[in-house]
Amino acid sequence: MKKGLKIVTIGGGSSYTPELVEGLIKRHDELPVSELWLVDIPEGEEKLNIVGTLAKRMVEKAGVPMDVHLTLDRREALKDADFVTTQFRVGLLEARAKDERIPLKYGVIGQETNGPGGLFKGLRTIPVILDIAKDIEELCPDAWLVNFTNPAGMVTEALLRYSNLKKVVGLCNVPIGMKMGVAKALDVDESRIEIQFAGLNHMVFGLDVFLDGISVKEKVIEAMADPANAMTMKNISGESWEPDFIRGLDLIPCGYHRYYYKTQEMLEHELEASKTEGTRAEVVQQVEKELFELYKDRELAIKPPQLEKRGGAYYSDAACNLISSIYNDKHDIQPVNTMNNGAIASIPDDSAVEVNCVMTKNGPKPIAVGDLPVTVRGLVQQIKSFERVAAEAAVTGDYNTALVAMTINPLVPSDKIAKQILDEMLEAHQEHLPQFFKSVEA
Ligand code: G6P
Repeated sequence: MKKGLKIVTIGGGSSYTPELVEGLIKRHDELPVSELWLVDIPEGEEKLNIVGTLAKRMVEKAGVPMDVHLTLDRREALKDADFVTTQFRVGLLEARAKDERIPLKYGVIGQETNGPGGLFKGLRTIPVILDIAKDIEELCPDAWLVNFTNPAGMVTEALLRYSNLKKVVGLCNVPIGMKMGVAKALDVDESRIEIQFAGLNHMVFGLDVFLDGISVKEKVIEAMADPANAMTMKNISGESWEPDFIRGLDLIPCGYHRYYYKTQEMLEHELEASKTEGTRAEVVQQVEKELFELYKDRELAIKPPQLEKRGGAYYSDAACNLISSIYNDKHDIQPVNTMNNGAIASIPDDSAVEVNCVMTKNGPKPIAVGDLPVTVRGLVQQIKSFERVAAEAAVTGDYNTALVAMTINPLVPSDKIAKQILDEMLEAHQEHLPQFFKSVEA
C-alpha cells in the first residue's frame, strides 16, 4: 500500500496556491497526498495564514484526508518530502514593477521574464533556489523538485548546472495555454489537440499541431493570421501578427514571441500602459489585493474564479498532472523543462529545454524533435546563451558577467544602454542581490 504522499510548496503564501490545492483535491484518488506543507518567509506570513486557512477550508469541504501545515521553517517542512514545488517571487510584485518600469526609461521592453526584467528576476531567484536545492539534497534527497518559479527556464538551467539535484523538472503553463488557444480557435475539445512543443521556457514553438492525430498546422496558422484571433494570454497584450509573417514562419509561436517579433509595437503598448493603467505588475498588485480580500472570507471554500484573471491560470493542472504522472508512472506525454540530451540538435545536450517528454516514475524522458527550423534556431540559441550567462552572473555576482548577459539579450540594443540599465537595476534591487554587494560590505 503506497504511504500517503508529502508535498511541500515553497512560496505557499502565493495567491496561486488555491489553484494547486484544487488540483490536488481533484486528483486525490490517483494522488493520495496526506500532507501538504505550505512554506513561506516572515515577510509573507500574513499572506501564508490567509491563503493557508483557505486551503484548509477547501480540503475540509472536499472531505479529502490531507493535512495542511503552514510554516516559516523550510527545513522542518522538507523532511522526507516526496515532491517539492517552488513558486516564490523574491522581492514580490514591487520588485517586478521595477523590472517592468526601469527598462522603459531607456526605450527597452520591461517584462517579468524577458529582457532586463528576466535577467534581474533570475539574479534575485537563482541563489535562493540553489539554497533550497542544498536543503532538499540533505533533507529529502529522493524528492522531485518541480519548479515553476520564474524565469522557469533559466532557473532549471541553473539547477542543472549549479546544484547536485538530479530529480528536477521545470514547469510552465504556456504550453497548456497554447493547447487551449488552439482548441478554441478550431472550436474543438482540447483533449483532441496535440502540439509538438520545442524550444525554451517562454520561448517555445509548436513545430506541428494535430487534431485526432492529423496535422492541422496550416489551419491553425490561418486562424492566427486572423487579426480577430489574438491567441495570447492574460498577461500579454494580443497585438495581431502580420498574416504573411505568420504564414511564412510556418510554426506556432507562443505569446512571449511578440516581445521578439513585434518588439516595437509591444514597447509602444507598454509605454502607453505605464502612463495609464500601469505596468502588468502594477495591475496585478490590484488583482492580488482583491484576491486576498476574497481569500479572507470564511465562507469561501473553493478556488475563486477571479484567479483566472492571472496569467498563471491552469498552471496547477500542469503541476498536478506532472506529479501524478511521475508518481503513477503514467508514461503520458507532457511538455516540461528538462535536460536536453539531444532532443533539440542545436542546443547543448546539458542545457535545459522545453519539449514534450514521456512522463515516467524516473522523470521526464524528452522526445527528440531533430532540429529547430533555421528561421527560429538562432533566436533560441541566443536566448539559451543569455540564460547560461545570466545564471553564471547570478551565482558569481560578477558585474562584467551580468553586463554581458544584459548586452547579449536580443531586447537590449547596445552595450552602453545595457550598462545604464544594469547599474540602475542593481541599485534598485540591492537588498535582494547580496551576491553583487558583498564586496561593498567587506
Ligand atoms: C504566464 C506565464 C507565467 C507568468 C504569468 C504572469 O502564465 O506562463 O510564467 O508568471 O503569465 O501572469 P501575471 O498575471 O502575473 O502577469
